[in-house]
Amino acid sequence: MMYLRLSVPVIILLANCENSIAENAIVDSSTIKADHAESITTVTSICTVCSCADNYVDCNNRRLETHFEEERWLNITAVKVISFEHNCLVHVTPFPRIIVERLILRRNRIARIDNHAFKELVNLTELDLSDNQLTSQMLQPHIFEGTFSPEAYEPLSNLQILNLGNNVLHWLHQSIFEHIADLKVLNLSGNPFGVFDYRTSIAISSLSYLEELDISYCELRELPNFQFHNAKHLKKLNLTSNQLTVLPKSLEEARTLEYLSLDDNPIRAIDRTNAFPNLKMLRELSLCGMLNLTVIGNGGLSALTGLESLYIQNCWKLGRIEEYAIAFTTTEGTMWPPLKKLNMASNNLRYLPMLLIGRWDKLEELRLTGNQWNCDCDNQYLIGTILPEYGEALMGENEVDELTCSAPPEHAGKKLASLADRHLRCLDLYNARPEKDAAILVGVLIGLLIAIPISMTFFILWRRGFFFCGSQGPGSFSRAFYKRASNDDDI
Ligand SMILES: *[C@@H]1O[C@H](CO)[C@@H](O)[C@H](O)[C@H]1NC(C)=O
Ligand SMILES: *[C@@H]1O[C@H](CO)[C@@H](O)[C@H](O)[C@H]1NC(C)=O
Ligand SMILES: *[C@@H]1O[C@H](CO)[C@@H](O)[C@H](O)[C@H]1NC(C)=O
Ligand SMILES: *[C@@H]1O[C@H](CO)[C@@H](O)[C@H](O)[C@H]1NC(C)=O
Ligand SMILES: *[C@@H]1O[C@H](CO)[C@@H](O)[C@H](O)[C@H]1NC(C)=O
Repeated sequence: MMYLRLSVPVIILLANCENSIAENAIVDSSTIKADHAESITTVTSICTVCSCADNYVDCNNRRLETHFEEERWLNITAVKVISFEHNCLVHVTPFPRIIVERLILRRNRIARIDNHAFKELVNLTELDLSDNQLTSQMLQPHIFEGTFSPEAYEPLSNLQILNLGNNVLHWLHQSIFEHIADLKVLNLSGNPFGVFDYRTSIAISSLSYLEELDISYCELRELPNFQFHNAKHLKKLNLTSNQLTVLPKSLEEARTLEYLSLDDNPIRAIDRTNAFPNLKMLRELSLCGMLNLTVIGNGGLSALTGLESLYIQNCWKLGRIEEYAIAFTTTEGTMWPPLKKLNMASNNLRYLPMLLIGRWDKLEELRLTGNQWNCDCDNQYLIGTILPEYGEALMGENEVDELTCSAPPEHAGKKLASLADRHLRCLDLYNARPEKDAAILVGVLIGLLIAIPISMTFFILWRRGFFFCGSQGPGSFSRAFYKRASNDDDI
């Protein structure tokens, strides 16, 4: 018996819902036996199947297919977390009255949730329904109804965090959040929206207290123009891995934004024509893995006057970031945001402009490895000043040592740090390789040095009449020429 009960969780951990009937039988019989043993003395608590600690009812990985009946919850009255992660639940039925803060139902196969399934969980602050099979048709406002009062359903007024990530939502019912209007965090990540249609757009903008919105991996090609019109508190927006090709216009209304991720979107250029709007509160911006991005031009980031952390990493085609990409002008002159962290590792950058950052000494972190740094005079400031003065403090000795020149040929492969004291020469006008030009120049010089005496010799010989072709002698040439040339006779 003891052996059986110990082995059950192990079997379940390895198993998933489709596992063999044989294993199923083992689990079932042991569970039943266990239940039976307990039920002699008291009502079978869910704690015979799940593990109940002080504040945590852990029903994870138990291959449960249905909910427990109400009486099995009897002695669970107040806990912090109830978790049914990674089971085989398909249908969520109403929970009994329990004081619980977090209900985790992620990684099941939930396709159906009964009306007011959570209304007795009045203390619920977080509901995690991610990694399930919820569809747009199924997800109706009544699901989130709170307790009934004579006039109306009360909202689930404590609910602040709702995770609907990784379901199959193409749109949202426009009143889906009417009973949970105080949500602060909404996660819609990993749903195939494509675009937010008017219903979805209205539903999301109805959440006036929203502080955090995760719409990563939603296949979004654009955002509605006024999506954030009502977002007076939105601090964090995650747009990772969508299909945006330009910065959404609606961002300009998200004025309270502090964190923004646009990682992995096919935006090609961020410059004056596709610039960030005025987001004065934005402290952190992530532009990583943008594989179509080739340039960050002057003015592109200039409106982000409060920026503290900028991450531009793994944009393999990003070859250029211009000198005034971040700086902005005020009546007092050119200013820069109070940048502390700048990560520009693993792009295709060749130059780091001197004026990109106002005060390099105010940085706390700098990452530059994995680029195509050119070691010519346009990088003199990076190589001769930034690296020797701040390199070690900002990126550590090892990372400074990893920085190598990829051009020009005479420095290729050398460490940037080894050139700190050199006066680096400039490339010529067309960024061609001057050493090639030099070879041509030397060739031309040698050619001239050889050609001049030879042609002179020929000229003199000709003058003396060594070459006679046909009847025409030198005398038939113009007199003037003859006269002038005769003065050079003794050369
Ligand atoms: C509920 O009862 C079971 C025994 O039936 C016990 O193991 C468990 O600790 C109890 N849970 C709580 C939260 O009191
Ligand atoms: C649970 O919610 C009720 C109603 O809002 C409230 O009276 C009670 O104090 C809450 N209990 C806990 C432990 O938060
Ligand atoms: C949203 O859900 C996805 C998928 O479950 C998860 O990876 C992501 O971390 C969540 N985002 C937030 C802000 O919790
Ligand atoms: C943004 O979303 C992606 C994917 O869900 C996740 O990996 C990342 O951690 C999120 N970023 C933040 C800051 O929540
Ligand atoms: C982004 O780049 C990929 C591959 O380089 C290309 O197939 C795709 O069409 C580009 N997308 C856009 C929107 O430019």
